[in-house]
Amino acid sequence: MANTATIEIDGKKYDFPLVKGTENEIAIDITKLRAATEGVITIDPGFKNTGSCESAITFLDGEKGILRYRGYSIDEVAENADFLEVAYLLIFGELPTKEQNDKFHEDIKAESYVDEDVKKIIEAFPKSAHPMGIISSLTSALTAFNPSSVNVESEEDMYKSVVRLLGKMPVLVAWTYRKKAGLPLDYGDNSLGYVENILKMMFKKPNGEYIQNKVLVDALDKLLILHADHEQNCSTSTVRIVGSSHAGLFASISAGISALWGPLHGGANQAVLEMLEAIQADGGDTKKYMAKAKDKNDPFRLMGFGHRVYKNFDPRARIIKKSADDVLSQLGIKEPILNIAEGLEQEALKDQYFVDRKLYPNVDFYSGIIYRAMGIPTDMFTVMFAIGRLPGWIAQWREMRLKKEPIGRPRQIYTGATERKFVPVDER
Ligand code: SDX
Repeated sequence: MANTATIEIDGKKYDFPLVKGTENEIAIDITKLRAATEGVITIDPGFKNTGSCESAITFLDGEKGILRYRGYSIDEVAENADFLEVAYLLIFGELPTKEQNDKFHEDIKAESYVDEDVKKIIEAFPKSAHPMGIISSLTSALTAFNPSSVNVESEEDMYKSVVRLLGKMPVLVAWTYRKKAGLPLDYGDNSLGYVENILKMMFKKPNGEYIQNKVLVDALDKLLILHADHEQNCSTSTVRIVGSSHAGLFASISAGISALWGPLHGGANQAVLEMLEAIQADGGDTKKYMAKAKDKNDPFRLMGFGHRVYKNFDPRARIIKKSADDVLSQLGIKEPILNIAEGLEQEALKDQYFVDRKLYPNVDFYSGIIYRAMGIPTDMFTVMFAIGRLPGWIAQWREMRLKKEPIGRPRQIYTGATERKFVPVDER
């Protein structure tokens, strides 16, 4: 294969180098395009055909439904690792030794507290506030309580920021949930594991003990692993571009949380449950909703279906579906919503519109069913996604900064008015 691509404009030919990745993906390096062609650029709304970076963190093959974290398949890490082990792998590039893993867990526990003044910020929010808006604000506020910006060149400084964020985020999440539930904002128990502590911080009632349920702990640990990174998705690209201006890590993560909130992205897990409940309330008429999803005049989309990259099964959806079945059967929960979801999936996999567009269930289609079985309210589902995605955002931010990538500043093609003279107001 040639190692250049040739573009011809007005009879003149321009050669550009090809970049090849370790999984044989090919890109045309157009970093010199505008200079070589005296002003020609490319345009690609939504960046469907445009790579923003070279990255060594996560590999997706959308056609084959492959997802790997630093070369390890998602099935293997979901089956064999715990969430903090995967966080370490994504951020630092290798699976931790036992000593590194134990130290990482302890260092994160040592940071699992938040300045009491943060409670004053939470108290100022109305109970009706969406948890994603609260969490995004609190994450940005962490900058105020940890003003020293990260020296990304310093391994020690970077490690300290990593354990600080991973330690404090679950407290912010638990306090956000408890604020809306009218419960006191207290702490968990550092004798517990990371995920056990999240569940206890969220659900412990002030007048009783919280009894751990291993089924829920294992299911949440697996869900967090499955959400941990996903290469250059919308929220990760947001974290990268905000960080490219050398804004701080907490500020960049706060921006990523806001991007994840959108129903076309992480907010889909909440939208899926609301959709399934609407179908259930409407007598379970899945055919009606399939017709709506295909009707170009109807803005309704089948939430939890389709993906920018996966044109085959989202490998995470398969694992989550099995976990949903396991959790519900182990808890003895009969969940009619699950039957509606399975019915929709079966219909869509046979429907020409969905088959032609290669629309399959994605990570958000079944996750809400498990969150609901855990007693997590629907408007907290995307917050759980954010806890899972945090290590991926940190890993991608760190990689971008260590590679000293330039500030992100796309070009455009202007289509507005050409030059015209200003008209004084009394002549308009
Ligand atoms: C996540 O990028 C990531 O990696 C994201 C994520 C991660 O881990 O970070 O995987 C997490 O965000 C998963 C996606 C969650 N979102 C949803 O479930 C919302 C519903 N899905 C769609 O909105 C859509 O599929 C997207 C946003 C996920 C992908 O949109 P694209 O790639 O821009 O595709 P498109 O909108 O151009 O759709 C192509 C065609 C269109 O029809 P035509 O114009 O060709 O006739 O497929 C149709 C779309 O109308 N289509 C759907 C559909 N998704 C796409 N039609 C009905 N229902 C849907 N869900």
